[in-house]
Amino acid sequence: MQQTFNNIEKVKGELTLPGDKSISHRAVIFSSMADGKSLIKNLSKGEDVNTTIRCFRQLGIEIQKEKNETIIFGRGVKGLNKSVSSLDCGNSGTTARLIAGLLSAQDFESTLTGDESLSKRPMHRVIVPLKQMGAKIESNNNYLPLKIFPSVLNQINYELPIPSAQIKSSVILAGLHCDGTTSIVEKVPSRNHTENMLGLDIKKSATGNTILVSGKNYPVPAEYFIPSDVSSAAFFVVLALLTKGSSLIIKNVSLNETRKGYLKILEAMGAKMNYEKIKVSSGEVYGDIIVQSSSLKNIEIPEEIIPNIIDEIPILSVAGLFAEGNFSIRGAGELRKKESDRINSICTNYKMSGLNVEEFEDGFNVSGKIKLKEIVFESFNDHRIAMAFSILSLLLKEGGKVDNFSCVNISNPDFLNQVKQIAG
Ligand code: S3P
Repeated sequence: MQQTFNNIEKVKGELTLPGDKSISHRAVIFSSMADGKSLIKNLSKGEDVNTTIRCFRQLGIEIQKEKNETIIFGRGVKGLNKSVSSLDCGNSGTTARLIAGLLSAQDFESTLTGDESLSKRPMHRVIVPLKQMGAKIESNNNYLPLKIFPSVLNQINYELPIPSAQIKSSVILAGLHCDGTTSIVEKVPSRNHTENMLGLDIKKSATGNTILVSGKNYPVPAEYFIPSDVSSAAFFVVLALLTKGSSLIIKNVSLNETRKGYLKILEAMGAKMNYEKIKVSSGEVYGDIIVQSSSLKNIEIPEEIIPNIIDEIPILSVAGLFAEGNFSIRGAGELRKKESDRINSICTNYKMSGLNVEEFEDGFNVSGKIKLKEIVFESFNDHRIAMAFSILSLLLKEGGKVDNFSCVNISNPDFLNQVKQIAG
């Protein structure tokens, strides 16, 4: 489906977004593991989180979805049942990698599959530490499908080779099933929702964090409130910043330190933003973001912050196009391992629009002005690419189109309504 976007001059009003995708996946997983009933308010409405729900239903967990509440009847340690068919992780790397850790510790066999995009994403990164713990896993040359056999896991001390919350969380989920304490060292911090929500001990030092996990951290039934998705908010933040005379309030947004990197970068670029009504739920900080239109200047983006802005780089580059100076990002090679090769997806769209683009293995530079009329951007079936280029289209005088737009359903099926709501 091709979606047309006409130029909009300004945005105003208030937005409340569905729950954060990363926190939602974890709330579903932990509630399914806990022994008893958990309640989740404001769960993500995206297809990825529905995929996690479908997998746990196949593993014998009762999950009831009501209007804005989800009730999960978890079955405790060893409470999962073998699924009669393979577990289809769809487009969701978080589902596949996190449940691989959990399923490695079960006394039944499981098979994980995925869609075309997920089947091209590396699973080696979780297979290696899980095998070190004693997991028995067969794969298609380190890609899906994964066949996970029953095994008893042992604790390990593991240093993460890449800053990745998915690898870290997979090892944590396995570590919950070991005798003794598993320690995970991360030199550069990635998103820490798993640690927060399980209340794990973290030792901080000059060389990084050591995360400690054992059976005593096994999840218990809980009531979760999932804050609005900060990554989905990024598209509207940038739209409000770049349209003249705009003022936008985004309510109850996750403001976790490991997720708000893009907000810090935009502030350093000159964005006028305030945070109000700060609260905490299940270890997660959230609050309202108030954004005013601003003139932006490109800055040098430090490499240490990349893991904390990894999902927002496509939309940050759109902000960079309208800012003084040239947008440049390096040290972001992980972008090539996402739902699409995001460096290539972004560069292809920019090149096709007549911009000056320099593509590197770990990033890109872009400069110039879009002169083309009648642009059709390609989404590469990647939700974040589709939304970033929708925002760019809304900012162009002539508007623009985005091909294969329905992939936005992966994280935010209400995206178009939200745009309409604030465009007045
Ligand atoms: C996620 C972690 C990130 C992120 C993904 C969600 C998570 O991936 O890109 O969208 O929920 O743990 P990596 O951990 O592989 O960087």
